[in-house]
Amino acid sequence: MRIFSGVQPTGNIHIGNYLGALRQFVELQDEAVPGGRAEPFYCVVDLHAITVPKDPAQLRENNLDVAALYLAVGIDPKKSTVFIQSDVPGHAELAWVLMCNTYTGELSRMTQFKEKSRGNESAPAGLFTYPVLMASDILLYDSDVVPVGHDQKQHIELCRDVAIRVNNRFGDVFVVPEGRFLKEGARVMSLDNPLAKMSKSAENQLSRISLLDDEAKIRKAIMKSTTDSEGSIRYDLENKPGVTNLINIYSALSGLSVEAVERKYEGVGYGAFKNDLAEVAIDALTPIKKRFDEIRPSEELKAVLRDGAERANEIAARTMARVKGYFGLGK
Ligand code: AMP
Ligand code: TRP
Repeated sequence: MRIFSGVQPTGNIHIGNYLGALRQFVELQDEAVPGGRAEPFYCVVDLHAITVPKDPAQLRENNLDVAALYLAVGIDPKKSTVFIQSDVPGHAELAWVLMCNTYTGELSRMTQFKEKSRGNESAPAGLFTYPVLMASDILLYDSDVVPVGHDQKQHIELCRDVAIRVNNRFGDVFVVPEGRFLKEGARVMSLDNPLAKMSKSAENQLSRISLLDDEAKIRKAIMKSTTDSEGSIRYDLENKPGVTNLINIYSALSGLSVEAVERKYEGVGYGAFKNDLAEVAIDALTPIKKRFDEIRPSEELKAVLRDGAERANEIAARTMARVKGYFGLGK
């Protein structure tokens, strides 16, 4: 069973990304499947990142940061292939072939494009064809399963539709992948506004806990987080979204169930609860940060990405040869 997923190389990878995606990537690499173990490909999708202008030096740093974070959270390069998208030319090459088999009407209906372009005539064409590049990422590796957040559901459907369309024309060109939607309980909300998702791009640094934040920043963000005036630690998404979010984070990072957290903090005030949560977060993130600091400047990281790109290129070249054969491209 081949697994593919990607994360964009932007800074500020936060505990939402960790609990909602990265930590589940780690679990998947040990998943037993008939005939052995899952075979995951975890990619840093820098070609997707340049759909909006990026500072070149910063982008290269971010690529390495995300790759190092993959390893720091526990992705094991012996079990998973970790690589940078632009190191494998097949992604862009296959994307072109897929674009010729995707309808402009389909792309016009993508909600992410509509939100990001807002009808702006100067929106880059790459923002419009972003989902086709994503389909290319997936189909290039004959991926069976694609773990992603719910926000990517429409893109996965498009990928399947295009794969099926090409297969209907030629036969078995592509493996039609399945989305594996990551656990909803893993949705982490913003600390300053618990009605919005925690995000990499929010202006307020205190709205998130980034994986590489220092202890003081983690404490400050948690102590200042929005709660309510009731004063009890109770799970109630509708009436107490702030406290509920903090309970969720506590539970996800400590391994205690939500009920156990509620019981433990019965009659305790918000200040003491937040203090403890800060300690839980620091305990969970310190080993990740420590490992990141070791890996990030290391030769090991470069070697992992070199080997990853080599392995990815091997498979990509095979798929491209097959695709070109069907379409009558090349010699
Ligand atoms: P992004 O930050 O949009 O590049 O997302 C990278 C991955 O992290 C995707 O799989 C998202 O679904 C997941 N993710 C992003 N933000 C959150 C959040 N606040 N809570 C849970 N998962 C998230
Ligand atoms: N679009 C995805 C996101 O924003 C990232 C991504 C790019 C991806 N290519 C992918 C995810 C292929 C899964 C498979 O989160």
